[in-house]
Amino acid sequence: MKRRPTAFLACLFLGASFAASAGPAEDRSALIKDTKGALSGVKFEDYVLGALALNKDAKAQYESIMDFPPYLNDLDNAKKAWEKPFKNGKNFASCFADGGKNVAGNYPQFDNASGKVVTFENALNACLRRNGEAELKYGSSALGLLSAYAKSLSDGMKVQVKVEGPVALAAYEKGKTLYYSRRGQLNFSCASCHVGEVGSFIRSEQLSPLIGQAAHWPEFRAGTNLVTLQGRFRQCQKNTRAAPLEFNSEEYNNLEYFMTYMSNDLPMQTPVFRK
Ligand code: HEC
Repeated sequence: MKRRPTAFLACLFLGASFAASAGPAEDRSALIKDTKGALSGVKFEDYVLGALALNKDAKAQYESIMDFPPYLNDLDNAKKAWEKPFKNGKNFASCFADGGKNVAGNYPQFDNASGKVVTFENALNACLRRNGEAELKYGSSALGLLSAYAKSLSDGMKVQVKVEGPVALAAYEKGKTLYYSRRGQLNFSCASCHVGEVGSFIRSEQLSPLIGQAAHWPEFRAGTNLVTLQGRFRQCQKNTRAAPLEFNSEEYNNLEYFMTYMSNDLPMQTPVFRK
């Protein structure tokens, strides 16, 4: 009996310190723990495979397709776009450290000067702008393809998104709120499916976990049909009868920031084939 009040106080204290320190790192650890519980036997690195990690046959089929992926031609054209000199003689490689090798895993970044999240596609457009070139339309296949090649230079790089300072944290929190808030006629949140129902089937599709979802974009579906991460956001919103948001909207960029942080420490796999 005598010990009880102390234990009770200790609980209160622990609860309080927990709440005070809760943030991106704690969110991520808690999510990893839940995902491991839901997907026992799946290796951490394999979370980048999404639903393929949950099905041996599909994974084997995918691996054999990736030996000689059908989108190689598209990637070749994208390489040409990446290497093409600007009017001033510079090129994309001049805008990034190490010519753009192993940089994409640092995106999205938070830019304190503008108070905004900068996605990798935004960084490609900023490079065009700085060099007096016209920007590419966000959501267009031109920007998608360019990012596919540019990100291939970071294939295997570990995702290392940073959330530093109160304004960056606020953007992260907005992205997280969007992921967890219910919308649309069916009243689903992203988390209803990708956190709460990981591994369950919706018709023939098995639900992938949030962890790893942002680490392998763009995808070439059915061979050569390019889909970007934000394109996939729109598709999931449409599928759940919610109004899709705009490409490059602050909401989607914050969502991408939150989701990519959740994929930290996973090796990027870009681009990839999906059925
Ligand atoms: C009703 C369930 C459902 C909801 C709600 C939902 N999705 Fe999906 N989502 C799916 C299905 C099914 C797939 C295809 C199978 C898979 O990869 O999980 C998918 C795939 C994805 C993928 C691609 C995964 C990969 O590894 O290729 C991303 C990213 C994604 N969803 C994000 C979202 C976001 C963001 C939201 C909220 C705006 C959302 N989803 C809401 C069902 C859902």
